[in-house]
Amino acid sequence: MIDREILLEKMKTSPYKPMKGKLVETRMLSDKEKFFRIELEGKINLAHEPGQFVMVSIFGVGEAPISVCSSPTDKGYFDLTVRNAGSFTNALHKLKKRDTVGIRGPFGKGFPVDNMFGYDLVIVAGGLGIVPLRSLIRYVMDNRKDFGRVQILLGCKTPKDFLFREETNEWMKRAEIKLSCTVDKADPDWTGNVGLITTLITGADVNPARIYAVVVGPPIMYKFVISELLKKNIPDHQIIVSLERRMRCGLGKCGHCQIEGIYVCQSGPVFTYAQLNDFRGECHEKAAKA
Ligand SMILES: Cc1cc2nc3c(=O)[nH]c(=O)nc-3n(C[C@H](O)[C@H](O)[C@H](O)COP(=O)(O)OP(=O)(O)OC[C@H]3O[C@@H](n4cnc5c(N)ncnc54)[C@H](O)[C@@H]3O)c2cc1C
Ligand code: FES
Repeated sequence: MIDREILLEKMKTSPYKPMKGKLVETRMLSDKEKFFRIELEGKINLAHEPGQFVMVSIFGVGEAPISVCSSPTDKGYFDLTVRNAGSFTNALHKLKKRDTVGIRGPFGKGFPVDNMFGYDLVIVAGGLGIVPLRSLIRYVMDNRKDFGRVQILLGCKTPKDFLFREETNEWMKRAEIKLSCTVDKADPDWTGNVGLITTLITGADVNPARIYAVVVGPPIMYKFVISELLKKNIPDHQIIVSLERRMRCGLGKCGHCQIEGIYVCQSGPVFTYAQLNDFRGECHEKAAKA
């Protein structure tokens, strides 16, 4: 059986039972973010889609949803990057190489890569948004001929907040990819652009008929970035976003992640802007009827 079938079989029989994942590499990427490379028992592939997430657990501590940040083309392991935000993530940060975590998943709908084949891509990452987008970027790099022009726009509060610096420098060297960075606030060593990420979109070269825009970042960023993309006439169904909600089961059972009857863990976390507008429309209709 291929890995995906093995995983689907496991999930069908015991969707709540975690698989064992061994930490084969751990390193701090910044003050708050730690990188984990994980091997599943038997070295089976996670067989995820870029943009999907897993539920990571530590026995006696708890469980949390975390995006997979490696590409499905990376075989035998997968990567996670976790911000130390509270009790669970703090315990995860304390783990070391060779420790074991529980893994359920992969869950949710990822980026619609099949629909993007042949299209140009503008990938917009704000802060920690680069984590799920790294999965997509690595996938696109490994299947470069399937996509048109690729522009990556990265924005962070300060230069020290950029994650995956060495990898970003490698991406920058690739002639067939255009990468631009900006910071809200420069330090004395920063020679690049200063300003919000929207300033990079203004200068982006966009043919709206043949482009997908993929946006992941802090909630505040979406409104302003989407507004700039709409000004470039990119259709709603070609603007892709990823939403984070509180999650428990990851399986569409507990209702923790629900927005207006939509289970984000199953229907998302990736949505098109057109889908978000539809939810909003239904929500207004319900409110008007009430
Ligand atoms: C689909 C999905 C993918 C995610 N991917 C990543 C990832 O790749 N890397 C990463 O570091 N984090 C990711 N998160 C967020 C991560 O799940 C939370 O930071 C984690 O659950 C916090 O648990 P805790 O016990 O450490 O913190 P808690 O003690 O529970 O909370 C600490 C703080 O974090 C906030 N918080 C808790 N849960 C969330 C959440 N789901 N979204 C936003 N803020 C939250 C709380 O409001 C609080 O301010 C993802 C969340 C979702 C839903
Ligand atoms: S997390 Fe339980 S229904 Fe989505």
